[in-house]
Parts: sequence; C-alpha cells; structure tokens
Amino acid sequence: MAPKFYCYLAILLATSLYCDAYKILIISSMPGRSHAILGDGMVRHLTKAGHEVTIITSMPEDKPAPNAREIDVGEEIRNFLNDDVNIQKIMEKDIDDMNLYLLFTMMKEISIKTLENPNMQKILNDPKEKFDLIIAEWMFNELYAGLPAIFECPFIWFSTVEPHWLILRIIDELPNPAYNLNVVSYNSPPFTFMQRVQELFCQISGEFYQYFVFSPIENKDYEQIIAPIVRKRGKSVPSFEELKNNISLVLGNSHVSIGQATRLPQSYKPIAGYHIEKEVKPLPQNLKKIMDSAKNGVIYFSLGSNLKSKELPIEIKRSLLKVFGELKQTVIWKFEENLPDRPKNVHILQWAPQQSILAHPNCVLFITHGGFLSSTETIHFGVPIIGIPVYGDQFSNINRAVKKGYAKKVDLTYSVADDLKVAINDILSDPKYKKRVKELSFIYHDRPVSPGDELVHWVEHVIRTGGALHLRSPALDVTWYKKMYLDLVAVIFIVFAIFILFYKLLIKKCLSSKCDIEKKRK
Ligand SMILES: *[C@@H]1O[C@H](CO)[C@@H](O)[C@H](O)[C@H]1NC(C)=O
Repeated sequence: MAPKFYCYLAILLATSLYCDAYKILIISSMPGRSHAILGDGMVRHLTKAGHEVTIITSMPEDKPAPNAREIDVGEEIRNFLNDDVNIQKIMEKDIDDMNLYLLFTMMKEISIKTLENPNMQKILNDPKEKFDLIIAEWMFNELYAGLPAIFECPFIWFSTVEPHWLILRIIDELPNPAYNLNVVSYNSPPFTFMQRVQELFCQISGEFYQYFVFSPIENKDYEQIIAPIVRKRGKSVPSFEELKNNISLVLGNSHVSIGQATRLPQSYKPIAGYHIEKEVKPLPQNLKKIMDSAKNGVIYFSLGSNLKSKELPIEIKRSLLKVFGELKQTVIWKFEENLPDRPKNVHILQWAPQQSILAHPNCVLFITHGGFLSSTETIHFGVPIIGIPVYGDQFSNINRAVKKGYAKKVDLTYSVADDLKVAINDILSDPKYKKRVKELSFIYHDRPVSPGDELVHWVEHVIRTGGALHLRSPALDVTWYKKMYLDLVAVIFIVFAIFILFYKLLIKKCLSSKCDIEKKRK
C-alpha cells in the first residue's frame, strides 16, 4: 500500500511540476563570447526551473543544458562580423568606434541574417512550433519585436548594458540627457556644460535617425520577413508600430552597485550577475597551486575574449613582461600564445577560468578591458581593477569605476607598460581601492533574492499574467506634445491672441467713435 501511495504522490508531483513548464524562445545570436555567456546563463536558469527553452544562437554550446534546444544560426553571422577587434588598428586610431549610425546598420544586418537563416525559418514557418514567451537580446534595432505576431505570446527585451535612452524609450520615455548617460558616450555624470550639450545633441540626432531613417527601413523588413509568415498562418498582420510598443518587460544586465541609480519604469528589471553561478568552480590543480602559494598576492591580467593579446605589438609585450617581472606579486596573464623569456613570477594561461581566479582570496588586482561581464564579475567578487578600455561601452564602464573609487584607468598607447607600473603601485599601496570595491560588492550581494531567481520570477510572472500589462508605463500612451503640454501652450497662445485682437478692435472702435463725436461737435 505505502510504496504505491508514494508512487502516486511522485507522479502527481511530477505532473503538477510539469504543468508549470513553459515553452520559451530566446534569441541571442550576437557573435561574441560575452553575449553568448549571457544567453546561456538564461538557458541555465530557465531550464533548471523546469521550462523548455529554445535558444537561437550563433555560438552553440558543446553540451547544451538538458531541456534546452539550440538552433545554430551562426553560419553567415560568424563570417559577417569578424569577432576580433584589432588592437594595432585601434592604437593607430584606424577604427572609428562607437558611431550610432554604424551600429544601427550593422546590428540590423545581424537581426535579418538571424531571421533569414534556414534553421530559424524552419521554426518560424512550422505551425506546430508554439511558445509562451519570447526573450530577445536588444542590439540597436527592434525587428524581433515583430515576432509576437507569429507566435501570439508576450515579448521581453534583454538589454546587456546599463539602462540608456534607446532602451528606456521603448517601455517608458526618453530619460533626461542632463544626467543620464548615452549608450555610446564616454562621459560619466555629473556632466560639464559641454558634455551636457553633447549628450543632448546625441539623443536628439539619434532620435531623428531612428524616426526618419531606421524606422521606415525596419517597417519594410518587418513587412518582408515577418508579415508573410503571419499571413501564411491565416492571421491578420498587426502594424509593426503597435508591436514595438507592446513590450512586456526589459530585463537589464545592470545593477545600481555597478552603474548609477537611474530612475526606472516598473517594466525594467535589473538582474546583473545572473550569469555567475552560485558555486564557484574549483581551480585546476596547477593554477590552484600557483595562487595558493602567491605570498604577495596575484594580479590577473586579461583583455577579454574579443581582443587577442597576441595582436599586441612586440615592443609592448616586451615592456609588459619587464614591468611584471619587477613586481613581487604573481602575475597570471591570459594570453593566446606562449611567451619566451618570461620572468619567474609571470604565468601565461591560454584559457582562464576568470570567475574562479577572481574568487581566490589571493587575487589582489584585476587588469581588464572593462567589458560588461568583467565589470560585473569585478564587483561580484570584490577585486579592484586597472582598466585599459579599448572600444565600445568599455570606456564608460571604466570611467564609472574610476569615479566610484575602486579603479584606475590606463590608456592603450605605446607607453602602456610604464603607465601600468605606476597604476599598479598606486592601487596596491593604497587600501582605499580595496575597501571601496568590498563596499560595492556588499551592496551588489545585498538583494532580497539572487539575480538568477529574479530572472526566473519575472519571466514566469509575464507569462502567468498574460504579458504583464499592469507594469506598463502610462507614458507610452501619451504623445510627446501632450507630455510637454504643448497643447496647453497652444491654447494659452490662442486665447491671448484673441484677447489682443479684441482689444485692438475695441480701441479702434473707441477711437473712431471718439472722432465721430468730435466731428459732430464741430
Ligand atoms: C500586446 O501584448 C499583449 C500581451 O502579451 C497581447 O495580449 C496583445 O495581443 C498584444 N497586442 C498586439 C496588438 O499584438
């Protein structure tokens, strides 16, 4: 009797758990390691919570999570965008980085290539494919927002960086550029007069581009790529405008400990750090030995996964080795090639378990390019940094870290080694940097729930409430001239004009009648 009862109970439990399983489509096709890590992090949390996840990716995992289906759309994308940013070109200022127009155009191509990939087309055109929710990475265009027309389900944008105007305008309204950082800006608030003007100009010109140039193009892409599939399924095609404004939520890879206390609408949920697993993976034996025995601490040096250190000019490599060799600390350098004539305290790793290294108590300093994942991991593990920003959001990430007081910035020039030497000395001899990063790390960890649990909660919340319409900002339903009360200004102006006109008429009348009286008198 008893075993049978438990058996029934187990089946009941299993089915009741299964009932809550949702089908979720994640689109994360940016061809970059850090983007893929964020996409895989979502898959990990959502499948663990029992959901069935399909991820559209250009960098498939060797071992996808159980319950996850990977769709590789990378063939063309990988060729289209060369993942490596060339260090030498940047040092010679050959690359004109961070241009909104360029970003819009390039990222739009990636979205189109993703949707047109045969593997993706198979899913879009198969009427048996059903989803309860779509999560897509926002990357400077909004084409994916058209997909709910096909699957008739809620839609979530995932934003990889700090909240900025391009993303906030989708779910609320434009933030004030006087104190909110633009996504491609190198400034960090409080702005000077010129910076404030610059930020305003960038927002206005960007909005112009969006409205007059990119929106019409996106509309056309929607009509060409998505609308025919909707028609084929026998559904009516909603306007793209309507869909773009019908976003349920933005999940942001941001947190107030890393960025600033930006005012956020209810439909923005900051979940930075969810990609970091609760249990840190143990270090490989040899590395553990090196770190354990580093009496004076370990300096970890990595320029990220996009930038290949082997592209560094030879004279810089030599001078870096010389500077590192003079340190009493142990240096772990993530580098793709083996360097001959290395000082004894410098170790080269082709592949580095970054989180496990940062988590080691002997890790005293992290020299980083300041990408968005490294910035999060720095705060998570509480290690001060020296930032050598190279492109994109790295500049604002590092500037912010310097302002927060746990970082120094060093420019990537031919004297980078000497500058590093000074910065290393400053940071390691002054305890204030470490103290500050530990404070921020405390703020980062002091949340009611972990970011991974929050991610799962909000995703389920959106599905359970049929799109979380209650979180939607009322600002979305008010046109810009009403927000600025321009209609009131117009009314006041008209009333005033009528009054003046009336007054003038009256005076004229009076004068002429006065004339009449005088004439009569004569
Ligand atoms: C907008 O989103 C909600 C919730 O996902 C959905 O019920 C509704 O049909 C959507 N509207 C349009 C026009 O697609």
